[in-house]
Amino acid sequence: MSDRIQAVRGMNDVLPQETPAWQFLEDNARRVLESYGYEQIRFPLLERTALFSGAIGESTDVVSKEMYTFEDRNGESLSLRPEGTAGCVRALLQHGMLQGQTHRLWYQGPMFRHERPQKGRLRQFHQIGAEAFGLDGPDVDAELILLGERLWRRLGLTGISLEINTLGTPESRARYRDALVEFFSSRRGELDEDSRRRLESNPLRILDSKNPDMRALIDHAPRIDEHLDAESADHFGRFKELLDAAGVGYRVNPRLVRGLDYYTRTVFEWLTDKLGAQSAICAGGRYDGLVASQGGPDTPGVGFAMGLERIIELLRLEQGGFDSTPHAYLLLLGETAQVAGTALAEKLRDALPALRLVMNAGGGSMKAQFRRADRSGAQYALILGEAEAQSGEVAVKPLRGEGEQQTVSSEALPAWLAERLELGAG
Ligand code: HAM
Repeated sequence: MSDRIQAVRGMNDVLPQETPAWQFLEDNARRVLESYGYEQIRFPLLERTALFSGAIGESTDVVSKEMYTFEDRNGESLSLRPEGTAGCVRALLQHGMLQGQTHRLWYQGPMFRHERPQKGRLRQFHQIGAEAFGLDGPDVDAELILLGERLWRRLGLTGISLEINTLGTPESRARYRDALVEFFSSRRGELDEDSRRRLESNPLRILDSKNPDMRALIDHAPRIDEHLDAESADHFGRFKELLDAAGVGYRVNPRLVRGLDYYTRTVFEWLTDKLGAQSAICAGGRYDGLVASQGGPDTPGVGFAMGLERIIELLRLEQGGFDSTPHAYLLLLGETAQVAGTALAEKLRDALPALRLVMNAGGGSMKAQFRRADRSGAQYALILGEAEAQSGEVAVKPLRGEGEQQTVSSEALPAWLAERLELGAG
């Protein structure tokens, strides 16, 4: 075992028994996103490193410590994408799509961050993200929240809460930054090592400290709402009114600062109480300066991304029961049956697109084929021997629970299966 090549640490395989939950999540997310008019965009996993350092910020943990960066054969510095917003903006700019247009977009796929792997924190993880461009009002901020809430409802998730905050404009944020630097510098002795480092590089992130010993100090730090500009305060007020009117519960968390530098005004996180430390299942906010900072026209933007591994874990805890085992296994006994069986299997799949039917391959005795049928997890064995092939019939035997073997004509078989498996014909 030890000399066999293993997956890279923090990069997981998704095995067949796990994929139904992924598909359930992905299908529902796509449907909900489309129901709000969001269109899918796909962009590369690799980009120039400068895109990420410019968009996300040199001093963020993501850029300074976590990116998978390497030189390609031409000596160009490339990085695996640690998130999707930067690549999305790059793609829109490159294709001239931000000349005053609005866009509602979504994407999905793997992201890469060299973090310390633990439960709910991986080095290759997957996100579904949504981004809205060219819309500067709090109405679209609220739309993204309602979209998220609708998805949690559809997935049947409970115990999910919403935290919101505003970071103001870059100017008011800079004033707040100064106030924080002044405060924390005067209490330098009480800072832990991480926070002392952040005091130099990214003082807002001190507020995000997970160290319980820092809590009391952070509680006394200046609050962002004391430094907010009037327009951002108004934007935030109207955002909250829209959430109130829609009946969405939330908590204003003035310490919510986010780990990426591009945010302005609204920021938010959806949290669960069921996953321990990795409680954020979805997070995002407004980034009104990002497009311009990448050389594009002044274009507001707002979006979020959800961490699929964390939501899958919630689905596993709360729902279970995702199933991709076959409904039926077709046993073929003898050469005539082999030929007739292939045709029969195709007919069944034509008639019942939702049917999961495995046809025995590789021959074998009746006993061996029954054993395979049983192991497949199928609910029914469909048995086609020489006699049945002649008479246009199939023997059907339930493999789980009670029930006798019976004979059904191959004509009637689709309806027979549809009724028992609740598949619905056609
Ligand atoms: P983020 O907060 O860095 O934001 O990531 C969003 C979500 O991805 C997190 O809430 C979490 O669920 C998941 N996630 C992040 N890192 C990991 C990891 N190492 N392992 C597992 N899951 C993880 C962004 O990425 C922004 N681009 C979101 C956004 C879009 N803001 C505006 N538009």
